[in-house]
Amino acid sequence: MRQAALGELEQTANQQQLDELRVKYLGKKGALTEILRGMGALSAEERPVIGQVANEVRAAIEGVISAKQEEYRKAETANKLRAETIDVTLPGRPVPLGSVHPLNKVIQEVEDIFIGMGYQVAEGPEVEQDYYNFEALNLPKNHPARDMQDSFYITEEILMRTHTSPVQVRTMERMKGEVPVKIICPGKVYRRDDDDATHSHVFTQIEGLVIDRGIRMSDLKGTLLQFVREMFGQETKIRMRPSFFPFTEPSAEVDVTCMMCGGSGCRTCKQSGWLEILGSGMVHPRVLEMSGYDPNIYSGFAFGMGVERIAMLKYGIDDIRHFYMNDLRFLRQFARV
Ligand code: DAH
Repeated sequence: MRQAALGELEQTANQQQLDELRVKYLGKKGALTEILRGMGALSAEERPVIGQVANEVRAAIEGVISAKQEEYRKAETANKLRAETIDVTLPGRPVPLGSVHPLNKVIQEVEDIFIGMGYQVAEGPEVEQDYYNFEALNLPKNHPARDMQDSFYITEEILMRTHTSPVQVRTMERMKGEVPVKIICPGKVYRRDDDDATHSHVFTQIEGLVIDRGIRMSDLKGTLLQFVREMFGQETKIRMRPSFFPFTEPSAEVDVTCMMCGGSGCRTCKQSGWLEILGSGMVHPRVLEMSGYDPNIYSGFAFGMGVERIAMLKYGIDDIRHFYMNDLRFLRQFARV
């Protein structure tokens, strides 16, 4: 039996055949089991002799079976690994990535600069009340400036905000007379302009507001100089020209040295060497007062800039409509700027 079993085991080629032989010899009705079961019928002298032989045979068969089993297990694992091999040399399929819109890029950059100077970013609604957009900014009803800005009215008292300045008022209300107030506010604004290369009925502004004790015009100038140096390069200079806004007194328009020619004069700056980038001034005492800040104790400065204009200057873009057309050929150029 031993020879027969070992001979047959030698011939097996897989686990299934091995299992069949295990049943044939060692199973419940197996040949060897049969012999062990018949031991009771043997005489007392035969029993240990036959028992010992039977155990040796069982050990031999089991030994071969487990060795073969191990062999098949290894072979199976090797086959599986070979079959499931991943070809890592296959080129991947690139996932198309979007890029940050140039206007958002400029907004992020401006935010970073002012956050670095301790400002917080505030927001306000695009659908705004007449009170915040005009009245509380010292533009009372019938003020001629309200005709200057032709606006999209929803009702007589509600309109699409024409500038981000109403966020100044909302911020002062929210702060309830606390100082310091140091915010910038980016956002969309709306005007009834006919769209062309330099006008859009929706565009983007960034507003700034600082209120504290003892804020002076020199603080405004120093802040803006620091800003333009970081934004356009350390060599950039600024120039303040007297101007008028109802919500600031005094008011100034701010120019920077042309980043195209460095100030020597070119087509972009119309040979002047300067580019206008924002409006600013000291917050008008009436504006402070209306929003709960005593102008005898507190003072502040404010400024507002057009994001499209800055992006156009910075990237040399010649038509404002490029920002809104979503032409991928345009947008992709900013993927790595
Ligand atoms: N709101 C003005 C505009 O849209 C821009 C502006 C000018 C904002 C002077 C200010 C400022 O905060 O002080 O034309």
